[in-house]
Amino acid sequence: MTPSPTEDLQRLQQLGLERIAAAPDLAALQQVDTELLGKRSEITALKAGLGQLEPEQRKAGGQAINAARTTLQQAVDARRAELEGAGRRQQLEAERLDLTERRPSARLGHLHPVTRAIQHLEDVFTGMGFTVSEGPEVETDWYAFEALNIPTWHPARSMWDTIYVDLGEPGSTLLRPHTSPVQIRLMEHTPPPIYSVMPGRVFRQETSDATHLAVFHQIEGLVVDRGITFGDLAGTIDAFTKAYFGDRFSSRLRPSYFPFTEPSAEFDIRRPDGTWLELGGCGMVHPNVLQNVGIDPEEFSGFAFGFGVDRLAVSRHGVADIRELFTNDLRFLEQF
Ligand code: PHE
Repeated sequence: MTPSPTEDLQRLQQLGLERIAAAPDLAALQQVDTELLGKRSEITALKAGLGQLEPEQRKAGGQAINAARTTLQQAVDARRAELEGAGRRQQLEAERLDLTERRPSARLGHLHPVTRAIQHLEDVFTGMGFTVSEGPEVETDWYAFEALNIPTWHPARSMWDTIYVDLGEPGSTLLRPHTSPVQIRLMEHTPPPIYSVMPGRVFRQETSDATHLAVFHQIEGLVVDRGITFGDLAGTIDAFTKAYFGDRFSSRLRPSYFPFTEPSAEFDIRRPDGTWLELGGCGMVHPNVLQNVGIDPEEFSGFAFGFGVDRLAVSRHGVADIRELFTNDLRFLEQF
């Protein structure tokens, strides 16, 4: 006895539903779909065979086949939706960025040693009552020299190996070779009392070596108030030295010359092992400088200092060659 079309259909449908449910992914499901319902599928063959049946059986057979097709098609659609949903969930999960979680294994970066030195210096000085000010890196001759009591003809100009910018009158625009112009800018628009530090990048026409850079950083200090003396300058330098380096460090001043301070000094820091670190220059603000910004030198006096930050950072970390700071080699930078 040949199996009736109904039995065939039931077997086909049952097997088909099992295969649909077992399809592991969309590609496999597509394959099953074609095999069950495509042109070469058994179900299509059954439909073609209907013509050999009696008209009565033909109608019932056709309905049964259509019903089976619909059942299988619905099962395929349902499984497809299920697999697509799972795919999206998987993709979301894979692409998820958890910005709140810090994995213990994740390594955080840190700021550059010079940036940290500047921030540390700012902390120390703001703790002593100073504000922090900044000025432009491209300056005019007036702010960088003239207002600082250094006329064009002054031999002291050679103290700064200045890089000039090709803009305006020749020699009128430059990359600041020190942070002292920020003193002028500050005094111009701030009436005394002034207690401020001014960190920033400076530029000099210089060949780099183990202790010099053509682009480096300075921090300037300026105090203008009534009755400020050289003793205040020396005391401030020493208080800063101990706050920044620790109690076992001390400072000394040596006579020197700067056109914008009178008297002027160099200051050195004494390390606990007895060696000295030459840090920068300082002095009492020259009366001409005060006059240049409209401050009465009879009423106010002040002191200023300026020193290199990069040198301070390398000395703190025991780095032998200052150029290492800016080669941007992570193997070097990650040590700090
Ligand atoms: N501007 C000087 C320099 O770069 C340092 C300095 C600042 C000296 C303030 C005295 C007062 O060499």
